[in-house]
Amino acid sequence: MAGRLAGKVAIITGGGHGIGKAYALGLATEGAKVVVAEIDAIAADAVAADLKRQGFEAIAVRTDVADRASAEAMAKRAFEAFGRIDILVNNAAIFATVPMSRSPFDEIEIEEWDRMMAVNLRGMWLASRAAVPHMRKRGYGKIINISSGTALKGSASRIHYVTSKAGVLGFTRTLAQELGKDGICVNCVAPGSTLSEENPSEGIVRMRSAAAEERAIQRVQRPGDLVGAIVFFASPESDFITGQTLVVDGGACMH
Ligand SMILES: NC(=O)c1ccc[n+]([C@@H]2O[C@H](COP(=O)([O-])OP(=O)(O)OC[C@H]3O[C@@H](n4cnc5c(N)ncnc54)[C@H](O)[C@@H]3O)[C@@H](O)[C@H]2O)c1
Repeated sequence: MAGRLAGKVAIITGGGHGIGKAYALGLATEGAKVVVAEIDAIAADAVAADLKRQGFEAIAVRTDVADRASAEAMAKRAFEAFGRIDILVNNAAIFATVPMSRSPFDEIEIEEWDRMMAVNLRGMWLASRAAVPHMRKRGYGKIINISSGTALKGSASRIHYVTSKAGVLGFTRTLAQELGKDGICVNCVAPGSTLSEENPSEGIVRMRSAAAEERAIQRVQRPGDLVGAIVFFASPESDFITGQTLVVDGGACMH
């Protein structure tokens, strides 16, 4: 398979739905062998099968990134299937498919706060812990963490989500400092409000359309708008860039 990522192996957590699905296709199109690591096993299987139908190499691994054994099994399975791990996209989160509640800060349930941190932050840490040994062996790797424009701007009524996504910025910078000596780059992409839902309600479409008005480029953001940034951070073109956060939102938040 030709392309900028030919011969590379990429794990995409949360790759079964929404934007993660677009990352899986984008990385495969550039030649990567893709591991769709996703809590929804049926969706993971469907994405991997679809990629294979298109002539790409892909496997599905049912993964709960918040669970250490599951994150380790994900990396083990990726290595068994393809013999290496070069790229990890830490995209899984409680967001739309596994939904969050939108409530004032003092009405969010403690259990929901804790699960948000467990998936969105601990999950990123556990998936990185599981994948890094494979990258270290080769002295090369790419970790791309997904934050959100809301971490830079704030967003009322979902303080648990925004706090978790702000944590991703510090996580990225610190992991980048620790892994630079191993030739592993760690960067972050912060998407703007993206129409990622497979069957969006009218309310969702209205909300995503309203976001367009805050942008320099005044249109609805779609999953495909994020793929170029992910491919760039996954490719050798970004080998001297680490610890950075790239906002991809059509110029709403000029960070
Ligand atoms: N859509 C947006 O407007 C937007 C904006 C900014 C950031 N983001 C971020 O982009 C990423 C993708 O978002 P999306 O819009 O595609 O939403 P989404 O909810 O469809 O995607 C998240 C994926 O993670 C999976 N997942 C949830 N819990 C998991 C777990 N414990 N283990 C493994 N997989 C798990 C879900 O099943 C889903 O496939 C998320 O990190 C989200 O926070 C989205």
